[in-house]
Amino acid sequence: MTGEADLRRDRVPAVRGDLADVVPYGAPQLDVPVRLNTNETALPPPEAFLAELARRIGSLELNRYPDRDAVELRRALAAREGLAPERVWAANGSNEVLLQLMQAYGGPGRSALIFRPGYSMYPELCRTTATQAHTVALSDDGRLTSSQLGDAVARIVAEHDPVITLLANPNNPTGALVDHDMLRALHDAVNGLLVVDEAYIEFAAPGATARPLLDELPRLVVSRTFSKAFRLAGLRLGYLLAPSQVVEDLLTVRLPYHLDAITQLGGIVALEQEAAFLDHRQETADERDRVAHRLAQLDGIDVLPSAANFLLLHARRADLFDRLLERGVLVRDLSSAVGRPGTLRVTVGTPAENDAFLAALSAVLDGRDGRDGRQE
Ligand SMILES: Cc1ncc(COP(=O)(O)O)c(C=O)c1O
Repeated sequence: MTGEADLRRDRVPAVRGDLADVVPYGAPQLDVPVRLNTNETALPPPEAFLAELARRIGSLELNRYPDRDAVELRRALAAREGLAPERVWAANGSNEVLLQLMQAYGGPGRSALIFRPGYSMYPELCRTTATQAHTVALSDDGRLTSSQLGDAVARIVAEHDPVITLLANPNNPTGALVDHDMLRALHDAVNGLLVVDEAYIEFAAPGATARPLLDELPRLVVSRTFSKAFRLAGLRLGYLLAPSQVVEDLLTVRLPYHLDAITQLGGIVALEQEAAFLDHRQETADERDRVAHRLAQLDGIDVLPSAANFLLLHARRADLFDRLLERGVLVRDLSSAVGRPGTLRVTVGTPAENDAFLAALSAVLDGRDGRDGRQE
């Protein structure tokens, strides 16, 4: 071996061509007083949960691999949903659930249908699995409408026949919720799996979940997480409800022992204490509505109605994200994702955090930060 080949052997090989210019995904994790950028719940899990988890952790055999199929956890989830355990699957956060779906059904020569603005991981998951992504733009107020189904969705289905469609409901980042009739129509419009990502469903009105449609729509998958209303983002636990065939297919791509024993136990204990975990929902919804109301009164801010624990707002000031950060308030800058400068998503926090956000926002808009503010 000579010349170039020798040189190559001194270096790490080049990353896959389609990853060469990719910037790693992730919202900034900054140590600031008010963090409202990743849609967690600000309240810690109930103390009784931590005590019970600590009590039961000692009985885990951590020298052994965990239950590869997470049977007890899936039984508990299945009982909650009134489904057979064969129709339930769990993984490390719903991101991993979605990744496994893409690994099983996507891939070279296959395509997915996604919506914009939508959850920013969907294009990433398509790229990672070498699945062609086709994007449909939602309406200006972030909604899926019948005309998009008849027009853009129909065209993509006719040309590419996507094997999987991903829709967050409520949608992230717009907060919009679609009803059962629209989900039926979307399922009808596509030939592949329809994955309804219900990461924020617990914040929406009861009855909004697509769970009742599972027996009616044969290609429907419902994805959920413990990271948002369940206040356990640090645990990394997500799950799906699906036809049993989907769960069988996922078994072929999941890593053995992918879900650790502590996470499995955490999920089981959390389900036993579900009411305590979710008792903040009304307060969170009230706070969301209070913040939305205040935002709507501000000159230069447009805010979208939201069924989730966050709000999407458009500001005439394009530098708002930086000015808020200077005041110790971290929100999510979605200007480039949405294609409109001054687009921010703010998570609903505690009343004190929300007040801090509103105070910082008013101060910036009133010019009390000593800057005149660049206009869009
Ligand atoms: C729509 C949506 N789906 C899925 C996720 C992933 O959540 P996790 O992997 O924590 O379950 C998020 C997180 O922000 C989200 O907004």
